[in-house]
Amino acid sequence: MFDRYRLYLEDAMADAVPPLDQHPINALLRYHLGWSDQHGAPSPTPASQGKALRPTLCMFACEAFDGQLTDAAPAAAALELIHNFSLIHDDIQDRGYERRHQPTVWAVWGTSPALVAGDSMQSLGDHTSILATDSVSPTTAIRVSGLITESYLEMIEGQCRDLQFEQRETIRTDEYLDMIALKTGALIRSSLVIGAALATEDAGTIDGVARFGRAIGRLFQIRDDYLGIWGDDAITGKSTDSDIVQRKKSYPIVYAFQESSGSNRTELTRLYAQETLDEPDVDRVLDILEDIGAAVQTDALTESTAEEARTALAVLEMPQWAQTDAENLIDFMANRLF
Ligand code: IPE
Ligand code: IPE
Ligand code: MG
Ligand code: MG
Repeated sequence: MFDRYRLYLEDAMADAVPPLDQHPINALLRYHLGWSDQHGAPSPTPASQGKALRPTLCMFACEAFDGQLTDAAPAAAALELIHNFSLIHDDIQDRGYERRHQPTVWAVWGTSPALVAGDSMQSLGDHTSILATDSVSPTTAIRVSGLITESYLEMIEGQCRDLQFEQRETIRTDEYLDMIALKTGALIRSSLVIGAALATEDAGTIDGVARFGRAIGRLFQIRDDYLGIWGDDAITGKSTDSDIVQRKKSYPIVYAFQESSGSNRTELTRLYAQETLDEPDVDRVLDILEDIGAAVQTDALTESTAEEARTALAVLEMPQWAQTDAENLIDFMANRLF
């Protein structure tokens, strides 16, 4: 699925992002996208370009319901730009020093330039979604742009909750699931919904696609939470202690607060009463997670969520190739290492 749409997406992204010489801030955008090095010299680095999940989903849904790929390309690029805006700001907020195997934008240029780079990326996303009128009607372009904006407002709400949760000790599982449905689920769902909406007006189909999108969004973030603790930095391209250092209430930690008792619980409470955790603290948290079987539980939730996604997929009326592709996608999401 990822390979099939790569060239379409590369063209749409190249059209959307202005060349380097137009404004100095473009150097930061092109660096973040893995197109240029820190000095602005072209240096395409596949590992630094991201998976392009959201635009791939958009193009896939469009093709699966018999739409034209050229209609979906601008919306797909817009979704990827909005996702990248969220990552540039997220790395400032999460104090993430590394993403996609390279230093983050704020780590290279500082916080203020990174904020502006994120803002510019967002504006390019907005611009791209509304300028899709070469391929679709103005009414459709405005509808797509509205869907993107609504979903990224949800994403921002989720990001706010994620940051608020750092300050709270215990988060219920339902609060955690609501947060990730917004922070990560909204854009993944809307990527599929927009692709489908460019192909069909059937409300039942769009609802079914949205249900599938919500399930894979949840699946994607639960696996991301697993990788944020037990992943291999050399494969994810992101540091694996930062979620614990930042007191993120990722699923394993939510589960740990829910399940731990006795000395483990006292210790967790003491550790999380601090602003940040140092290296020995992180090791202590890892021991407690091991003790209560948090990795096994996270795997179990990943698998049950993958099953929900399979159920949502089974009722969609798509050609066999698309069903198979989507099943493979669920397996990738549940087992991915990056
Ligand atoms: C990372 O998203 C942020 C989350 C919402 C979990 P991706 O894992 O899709 O990031 P890239 O674009 O492939 O780097
Ligand atoms: C990123 O979430 C979600 C958004 C940017 C909206 P995370 O903070 O969990 O993702 P990573 O682990 O930094 O990619
Ligand atoms: Mg974050
Ligand atoms: Mg982060």
